[in-house]
Amino acid sequence: MKKIKIISIWNPKGGQGKSMLAINLAAAACEIGIKPLVICQDQQGTSMLYYQTGNLPFEVIGDIPESRPNADLIIFDHQASDWEVPDTHLLIMPLKPARDQYATYIDAFKRADKKGREIITVVTDGQTHRASEKSTTEFLREEGAYIIPSSGVFSRAAEEYRTIYDTKLNKAYKIRERRQEISRILGAILMQQSEDTTAGEKTNG
Ligand SMILES: Nc1ncnc2c1ncn2[C@@H]1O[C@H](COP(=O)(O)OP(=O)(O)OP(=O)(O)O)[C@@H](O)[C@H]1O
Ligand SMILES: [Mg+2]
Repeated sequence: MKKIKIISIWNPKGGQGKSMLAINLAAAACEIGIKPLVICQDQQGTSMLYYQTGNLPFEVIGDIPESRPNADLIIFDHQASDWEVPDTHLLIMPLKPARDQYATYIDAFKRADKKGREIITVVTDGQTHRASEKSTTEFLREEGAYIIPSSGVFSRAAEEYRTIYDTKLNKAYKIRERRQEISRILGAILMQQSEDTTAGEKTNG
């Protein structure tokens, strides 16, 4: 039986880029022939809405499947205010680097770290003209975080319920750079040694 890699996109703070990462990482997987499945923890959630518009080249479901799904990579898109550290070994934690959002991230990171989770941090939507955000971003970069600069590509994609890999966005400003950033994060996810790739199947992720 082939191994399924399971990851959780988690940050209890709302609006940090969880759903953006979930659907774009899934799209990046499709690009390289890996079959993803997004599990949206919120029936009215953002990634579910994307799926319902019919623009996605992969499936988004609202519940943990009863039987083993036909997928290579399962991505849990967690909802805001979910403070419970997900069960998967690997967590992707997006954050926007403004001060109060950073504080929530640190709090959540500590909880996950205490439970032995491996964490990939992704700074999304940093306003680099703000000194405090810039220094937070630089600090996290040195700690190994991935950085996705603030970009209009994401609001356009969100308005149209598309991923940034959608060919309709091929001419968007700096689209290649943005795709590379997402694909690099996917690369890091796929490189990570799978310690417990079945954990998310048994529990709520
Ligand atoms: N790098 C970026 N540049 C510009 N906008 C971004 C960037 N990353 C994310 N965003 C925008 O931030 C907003 C919130 O993102 P998203 O919905 O993915 O957050 P979330 O963490 O899933 O929120 P919730 O907790 O409410 O589910 C979206 O409009 C998204 O397009
Ligand atoms: Mg969301």
